[in-house]
Amino acid sequence: MNPTTLARLLGEWNPGASPAYRELADVVRLLVLDGRVPLDVALPSERALAATLGLSRTTVTAAYTLLRDQGFLSSGQGSRGRTCIPHRGRRGAQPGTPELSGAPGLAVPDGLLDLAYASLPASGEVVHRAFAAALTELPALLPGFGYDALGVGPLREAIAARYTAAGVPTTAGQILVTSGAQHALNIILRTLAGRSARVLVEHPSYPNALDAMRSAGCRPVPVAMPPAALDGGAGWDTDALETALKQQRPAMAYVVPDFHNPTGRLMPDSQRRQLVRAAAASGTVLVVDETLRELNLDGAPSTPLAAFSPAVVSIGSLSKSHWAGLRTGWIRAGEPLIQRFAAARTTMDLGGPIVEQLAAAHLVNALTEPLPARLAALRANRDTLLMLIAEHLPTWQTERPDGGLSVWSRLPVPLSTAMTVIAPDFGIRLAAGPRFGLGGAFEHYLRVPFTLPPAQLETAVLALRSAQDRLEASPQLRRDLTSPPAVAIA
Ligand SMILES: Cc1ncc(COP(=O)(O)O)c(C=O)c1O
Repeated sequence: MNPTTLARLLGEWNPGASPAYRELADVVRLLVLDGRVPLDVALPSERALAATLGLSRTTVTAAYTLLRDQGFLSSGQGSRGRTCIPHRGRRGAQPGTPELSGAPGLAVPDGLLDLAYASLPASGEVVHRAFAAALTELPALLPGFGYDALGVGPLREAIAARYTAAGVPTTAGQILVTSGAQHALNIILRTLAGRSARVLVEHPSYPNALDAMRSAGCRPVPVAMPPAALDGGAGWDTDALETALKQQRPAMAYVVPDFHNPTGRLMPDSQRRQLVRAAAASGTVLVVDETLRELNLDGAPSTPLAAFSPAVVSIGSLSKSHWAGLRTGWIRAGEPLIQRFAAARTTMDLGGPIVEQLAAAHLVNALTEPLPARLAALRANRDTLLMLIAEHLPTWQTERPDGGLSVWSRLPVPLSTAMTVIAPDFGIRLAAGPRFGLGGAFEHYLRVPFTLPPAQLETAVLALRSAQDRLEASPQLRRDLTSPPAVAIA
């Protein structure tokens, strides 16, 4: 990793409080835990980083030494240290654990329970069968060039048929296949929201979407989600959304109405209608991320936002219904916009892999097949997690999610980042609350996924309790760990 890249990730970090080397090590450690600095990359040389950050070389050397001591930097002889996560070996991964739940480039290390990424292992047999069928279809496509910026016909037709069945008449010409929802969002941002463009976002929101907006140079306009209502049904603050749309006239609004990440809320139809109307009035393109739409734990009915207006742009993905490793997602929009997206896409890639798309067509056609078992397990996990938190972390306030994969929990004190930093000492990996917001917000919150089986959820909750106890017992540790990461989010 070059020093400029690391300096950018360090954001507005400013060595103010002493000792600076400890702050630097803490921020780098958080970046590794968050997955923003991948594992097994060489950090910049001490001299180069010191020059880029305007620090003394001694400070950087001391920070690297601390990272080595803590197990976050390997100590290769004669070579630069590479990032790693300490292997504790206390809680070995068990068969069936979601080892696949790590972020790209961030494998779950042995012995750490991963609560940072809300994702599930593949619905194995279904996926395998789809690939077997795809291989038999492949020969017919081999004479072609293999480049297709829009996606293969059978997959686009299958996705269009799903929308039509859900009450949103759609043709294959309205679908662009992408390498996952994140890729879809990047294509949309590049097309609709250039540098300095305002993009309305829910606050909190999905961290990688916020990162995509930042890296596209957009100006996010956060609109707070209302606090959890004790009796459920907190929904969205559509009046605040409407006001922000009217006053700021953002080019684009990015929302996750179907099991919002991280709160797990489902937007009621009445609010959907109001939002679509408000976006139309302000000339804002409403971009709806439906990645989690199939994870409807309570079976509540909802109408896809695109049913309310042909101007809505929808993003979908197989990552949560089947497997993130498929890297298959899509955009649904009007045909002229799809053509613009396809043109923008070719600056990033020239199309998706064919076999994956053929397999994905089978999965989309039989979308509901793996879902009942998946939803039953998730329902049980959700209930177990809520119960465990109530029992072992009684000062936390939780919100029962309507769907999705995680519980957004409010901590009694703003220690989310500090918990994240010390979490590996207790055998877990966390994503700090501020990752879900802007400007260091959400230090009071942690997203806790319920993707692990109940026995491991218990281990994880006990670990959270131990981490909290350690912080509560040590005001000095709390102070040391609270300040730097809040600015590392920038
Ligand atoms: C709301 C939301 N959008 C997008 C993604 C990323 O999806 P994909 O794996 O299809 O890129 C996720 C993954 O967690 C998500 O929760």
